[in-house]
Amino acid sequence: MPDLWEREYHKVAVGRETFQVDVRYKNLKPIGDGSYGFVCSADDAVENRQVAIKKIGDVFNDLVDAKRILREIKLLRHFDGHENIINITDIMCLPPNTTDFKDVYIVTNLMESDMDRIISSGQPLSDQHFQYFLYQVLRGLKFIHSANVLHRDMKPSNLLVNANCDLAICDFGLARGVELEYEDELTEYVVTRWYRAPELLCDSSHYGKTVDMWSVGCIFAEMLCRHAFFQGHNPTHQLETIVSVMGMPTEDELSFVTHPAARKAILSRGGSTPKPLESYFPADTNPLAIDLLRRMLSFHPEHRITVEEALEHAYLSELHGQMEEPSCDRSFDFEYERVFGSGDIPREELQKMMFDDMMQFAPDSRHSRAGSCDEPDGMHQSESKSYDDADDAAGNGYDEGEEKSSRRK
Ligand SMILES: Nc1ncnc2c1ncn2[C@@H]1O[C@H](COP(=O)(O)OP(=O)(O)O)[C@@H](O)[C@H]1O
Ligand SMILES: [Mg+2]
Repeated sequence: MPDLWEREYHKVAVGRETFQVDVRYKNLKPIGDGSYGFVCSADDAVENRQVAIKKIGDVFNDLVDAKRILREIKLLRHFDGHENIINITDIMCLPPNTTDFKDVYIVTNLMESDMDRIISSGQPLSDQHFQYFLYQVLRGLKFIHSANVLHRDMKPSNLLVNANCDLAICDFGLARGVELEYEDELTEYVVTRWYRAPELLCDSSHYGKTVDMWSVGCIFAEMLCRHAFFQGHNPTHQLETIVSVMGMPTEDELSFVTHPAARKAILSRGGSTPKPLESYFPADTNPLAIDLLRRMLSFHPEHRITVEEALEHAYLSELHGQMEEPSCDRSFDFEYERVFGSGDIPREELQKMMFDDMMQFAPDSRHSRAGSCDEPDGMHQSESKSYDDADDAAGNGYDEGEEKSSRRK
């Protein structure tokens, strides 16, 4: 039994949920209802700042989901300290003082909005905004990829944004390691369809960091044109939509597509000449933005621009020259999962590991706060590019991937 941590909890009704949290968290207000959890803002009376609290109720109802929550917690702790990745500040496991708990609460720094809300808010965004947002996404992703982790769910609602335009990547619920051998349920969870790379749509089981770059391309296109760029109704239609916008891939670009149905869907779009890519965006769109976009939306994963290359692209040269772009000095270690092979991790083990992660936040913890990489140098913003408070209504109509687990909507 790990050491106990005497914390005082209170129960608070928030919308349709009841939160049971440390008394230090007051004034809870609902801010988001994601696929796994229900998210509230709160005042942290101890640190005197605002936080976001994500509740994941009945975590162990599904051991696959529970393993994913544990992974998210461990990844957030591993990446803690990078300015473009959300900071985890606390974990609570309830009921209290037992490793046989049911609910988990993950506490992070409160951000004011997310990219999905900003895009749908209709408020004007300048080329400077686009550069700064994209730059920060790539800067965060470089850190993630350098730890040999794929995010796999890059989409606007997983990019949190503050009024001063600071951006942080969140939601590591679908992340996994670059190596495949120990990964189970490979095709079970993949990025939301509209942001899904061709290699995933083509059922390729070998995919890598390039899937995140495709998603970043889709997000960037969405920022520029203010609506989701490739809106397929199902995986086949998604592939067809991509081909009708980006043009028919050459035989060489199709070399990785071995799945007959995928090949058929692609070839079915043959014949029509695509419109120029720039025609999908406002006339004053920076041509360098279009050039970088085209490279992120390269059909063949090996031809697609990498995160490091994208940071060096002329479109981002001003920011690239001003800021440090740290790499993570340690790969994320999935060993704790690997020991259980490709099967489920037993409930008691998951509980013990999550409880232990919570204990790392105890004020008098005898455990070291291992897990965070060296803090990068501060990010200096040359000027404030503020926007009005984004619309509260999330209503994005996004349709999640078909292959999600029970919890994903
Ligand atoms: N730290 C935070 N600050 C502000 N909003 C947040 C924060 N964390 C999450 N949210 C909001 O809650 C939503 C869901 O959170 P997320 O971590 O993506 O969970 P899920 O796995 O349920 O999608 C986000 O899209 C965002 O709108
Ligand atoms: Mg999310």
